[in-house]
Amino acid sequence: MKKDFYITTPIYYVNDKPHIGHAYTTILADVISRFQRLNNNNVMFLTGLDEHGQKVEQAANINNIDPQLHCDEMVPRFKDLWKKLDINYNDFIRTTEDRHTKIVKKILQSVFDKGDIYFDEYEGLYSISEERFITEKEAEDGNFRDIKKIKEKNYFFKMSSYQQKLIDHIKANPNFILPIHRKNEVLGFLKKPLNDLCISRPKSRLKWGIELPFDSEYVTYVWFDALINYISSIGLMSDDKRFNRYWPVNFHLIGKDILTTHCVYWPTILMSIGIELPQTIFAHGWWLNKDSKMSKSIGNVIDPIDLIDRYGVDSLRYYLMREMVLGHDANFSQNSFIKRYNSDLANDLGNLVSRITNLVNKFFKGNIHSGYDISDEARNLEIAGINTIELVNNQFSELKINDAIESTMSYVRNINKYIENRAPWKLVKTNLKLSAGVLLSAAEALRISSLLLLPIMPKKMEKILYILGDDRLNKGWNGFKNGMKIKSHDSLFPRIEIDSDKNNSTVIKKKNAIKNLVSIDEFNRIELKVAQIISAEKIKDSNSLYKIEINLENEKRQIVSGIAKYYKIDELIGKKIVAVSNLNSAKIFGVESNGMLLAAKKGKSLTLVTCKSNKAMNGKRVY
Ligand code: MSP
Repeated sequence: MKKDFYITTPIYYVNDKPHIGHAYTTILADVISRFQRLNNNNVMFLTGLDEHGQKVEQAANINNIDPQLHCDEMVPRFKDLWKKLDINYNDFIRTTEDRHTKIVKKILQSVFDKGDIYFDEYEGLYSISEERFITEKEAEDGNFRDIKKIKEKNYFFKMSSYQQKLIDHIKANPNFILPIHRKNEVLGFLKKPLNDLCISRPKSRLKWGIELPFDSEYVTYVWFDALINYISSIGLMSDDKRFNRYWPVNFHLIGKDILTTHCVYWPTILMSIGIELPQTIFAHGWWLNKDSKMSKSIGNVIDPIDLIDRYGVDSLRYYLMREMVLGHDANFSQNSFIKRYNSDLANDLGNLVSRITNLVNKFFKGNIHSGYDISDEARNLEIAGINTIELVNNQFSELKINDAIESTMSYVRNINKYIENRAPWKLVKTNLKLSAGVLLSAAEALRISSLLLLPIMPKKMEKILYILGDDRLNKGWNGFKNGMKIKSHDSLFPRIEIDSDKNNSTVIKKKNAIKNLVSIDEFNRIELKVAQIISAEKIKDSNSLYKIEINLENEKRQIVSGIAKYYKIDELIGKKIVAVSNLNSAKIFGVESNGMLLAAKKGKSLTLVTCKSNKAMNGKRVY
C-alpha cells in the first residue's frame, strides 16, 4: 500500500553561498526520499530559502537594491546547485512568497487571540550575526560576533507555558528527537526554566520581515517566520489538500546547530496553534574542515561545485553519505575522499562491473540466454543477496545510511570473491554452460546491489542497470530469468591516482589520463567501410600525396592520401582497404578528397589497414 511520506531540510539563509554542509543535508533528504519512492510511497520532499532578516536587508542596502530583488538574485545559487546534485525535491518554499506570509500572519493572529502573545519591554544582548538575543553566558563563550545591548518593547510568545507539556511529549515519544544524545541534550536544556520567546522587531530597526497583523509598527522575528515554512508550504489553513495528507512530518532533518529552535521553539509554537507535533526531528553532526566547523567568516568552506566538476556528482553523494555516521561530526578531506573513491568505487564496484561485462562480451558475445549457477556457492550468494536487501531496507528506514552503504558494499565484495573462486574464465574451457551460469549469477547479484545503491548514486546505478539490461520490475533474486544482453560502456569509476610533487602538494590524475578523449557516441558516428583501390597517381608538387580512386559500394570515390612515401602505385591497385566514408570533403593541394584511408604507423613504417578476403567486399561495414 502506498503511504504518504513527508521530509524537510532546513530552509537555508538566502545570503549564504551553499557549501558542503548545506549540500549534505539536502543530499541526505534526497537519498531518503528516493528510497521511499522506490518503496512505492508518496513522497513530499521540501526544501527552500529563509529570506527575511537583518543580514539580507543590510546586503540589499549595501548594493542599493530592493531586498526582494536581492533575494531573487540569490535563489539560483541554490536551485542550480540542487540541480547539479540531482536533488529531486517536490516543493521549494521561499519565505517571501505570498503562500507563506499569508499563513504566518494567520497563525500570529490566532496565537495572539488565544492570549499566547504579549507585549513587553526587554533588555538584553543581541547578536546581529545570529539574529537573536543571547544569554550572558553565550556572550562570554565568545562564539558570537556583533553583540549589542538592546532595550526595546517587543512581542513575546509564551513559550514557558508549554515547557512541561514539551518535556512530557519528548519522554513519551522516544523517536521525537533523534539521535538519542540530542534528545538528552534538549531534556538537559529544559531542566532550567524556559524563557518566553521574543517574536518581533520594531520596523525602526528591521523592515525586511512579515508585518504583525495586530501591530503595523512591527515585523516578526526570524524563527517565528522561518519555522512555519514547514506547514505553510503544504497549505495549512488553505484549500491545499497536502496538509492533511502529509502532516505530521515524518522527518525534519537539521544540523545540530539548530537543535533548540527545532526541538523547543517549534513544538511549543505548534502546541499553541493546536497542531500535532512532528514525528521525528533528526539532528545530524557537522562537516568539519581540519576539525573546525566550516564557516564563511573563517574562510574554510568547501565548495561542492568544485568537487562535482572534479569527481562527478555521484562520487560526491557517495562520499558524503558513506563517510558521516549520522548524528556525529565528520572531517572532510580530499585525501579521505580519494581513498574512499578508489577503494569502494574504483576497486570494488567499478571492477566488478567491468569484470562481468568484459567476460560476457569476450566469451558470450555480450549475450547470456538463461541458467543461473546452482552450486552451493551460488546459492549462498543468492541467500546473502536476499538478506542484504532486507538489512539495507531496515537500515535506510532507521536513517543509518552509512551502515546501509557498508552492508551493500560488503555484498559487492562477496560477489567479487564468488567470481574469483568460480573463475568463469577457466570454466569456459571445460563447461561453457556453467561459465555462463556463474556470470549470470554474478550479474544478478550486481543488479541487486545497484538497486540498493540507487538512492545514493542515481545516475551511475541507472547506468549499471542499463548496461545489464535490467527491466527494473524484479526487486528480488531472478531478475535475469530470461537472460541478459550487455550494453557497451566506458569505465564507470576510473581510478584516481595521487602524485606528490617536489613541493609535497597533491596532484591528482586519473589513471592513464589521455587528453582529447573521444566518447563512444562520438566514435559511433564514424562510418568505416571496406573499399577497393581502382587507381592511384602522384599529386603534382607533393612528395607524399596520392590521388586515389576507390570503389565504395559500387560508387567511385576520390581520396587524397599521404602514403606516397610508403607504397608504390602498383602495390596499391586492387587492395581492399578500410575507409572512413562519412568524412567532410576537403581540398588538398587543390584536389578534392572525399574520405580517408586507415593506416597504422609504427616508428618510420606505415601500413594500410587492409582486408585479406578475395571475395568482393565492396562497401562492407567494418565493426
Ligand atoms: N535559516 C536557518 C534555518 C531555518 S529552518 C526553519 C539556518 N540556515 S543555514 O543556512 O544556516 O543552514 C543551516 C543548516 O545547514 C544546518 O542546520 C545544516 O543542515 C546545514 N549545515 C550548515 N553547515 C553545516 C556543516 N558544516 N555541516 C553539516 N551541515 C551544516 O540555520
